[in-house]
Amino acid sequence: MASNSADLDRSNDRYLHHTVQSLFSLKGKVIVITGGARGIGLAFGIAVAEAGGDVAVLDVLETPHEHFSKLQNDYGVKVKLYKTDVTKFEILKATFDEVVEDFGRIDGCVAAAGICPDQPFLERSPEAVARCFDINITGVFFTAQLAAAQMVRQKPTEFNPKGGSVILIGSVAAYQASKAQYLSDYCSSKGAVLSMARELAVELADRNVRVNSISPGYMMTDMTLAISDTRPGLAKIFVNEPPMKRMGDRTDLKGACVYLLSDASAYHTGDDLLITGGIHAGRTE
Ligand SMILES: NC(=O)c1ccc[n+]([C@@H]2O[C@H](COP(=O)([O-])OP(=O)(O)OC[C@H]3O[C@@H](n4cnc5c(N)ncnc54)[C@H](O)[C@@H]3O)[C@@H](O)[C@H]2O)c1
Repeated sequence: MASNSADLDRSNDRYLHHTVQSLFSLKGKVIVITGGARGIGLAFGIAVAEAGGDVAVLDVLETPHEHFSKLQNDYGVKVKLYKTDVTKFEILKATFDEVVEDFGRIDGCVAAAGICPDQPFLERSPEAVARCFDINITGVFFTAQLAAAQMVRQKPTEFNPKGGSVILIGSVAAYQASKAQYLSDYCSSKGAVLSMARELAVELADRNVRVNSISPGYMMTDMTLAISDTRPGLAKIFVNEPPMKRMGDRTDLKGACVYLLSDASAYHTGDDLLITGGIHAGRTE
């Protein structure tokens, strides 16, 4: 039932006291990023550090990308890399426990670990499909669950009066079939991620945990550069399909990540931010 006016908090000048700079700041916040040893996750780590947040990177990689040392050394925030596997619940839980021991809390989490197998549907083996779903769906589920469980356990702080924020990484591939790749299980997994984000957002709304997803279009990373080397014609599609006629750069995702993790998005949950250079708007020529 709608509140009557007597139930309203009528203080109507709060917006005058929260500046844009303070709303977007991640100072004093601890952000966990899976898949942050390279690629899009690493760009998110650098974005968080630039906004003043501390960063715990969880990745299966032994050796992170060379830019990781920049994240560790250049921003004056705490950064630590944990070797783990998002598909193994007990191992991942132990890693989250270690993060909380090291950093004291978790205010935000980005589930960016993922793989993108490219093989015709009729050739996909049960093991290969299971691996893709394990990393891209179950791993994201476990990550969100462990992060949210910590967020609802902890008390608000001066730096984080509003609760936690979880970002899942979807893809434009959740919305449309691939133009030149064979992505049957990948597309399915990203559809699942978007449904997961919506459901978690509703379940966790009254526990002060917001859940949103970001769906990038074609972004320039080591992953996409490697794929376009093996498949002639793909680079052309990456550049020409977006109405903006260029591939996305990871710079294009940094602002959205900081926005969704910060108090600037305190009333924003259950949404998917499509950052595709316009692909999703449907104009392909
Ligand atoms: N690059 C793009 O164009 C693009 C577009 C849309 C969506 N995405 C999504 O963005 C995310 C990141 O993609 P990327 O391009 O940076 O790929 P990437 O391969 O460069 O990075 C993925 C990271 O995930 C890690 N990872 C993989 N399996 C893991 C596991 N079991 N446990 C822990 N870490 C694991 C990898 O080690 C790697 O560091 C993925 O979910 C991908 O589907 C990418």
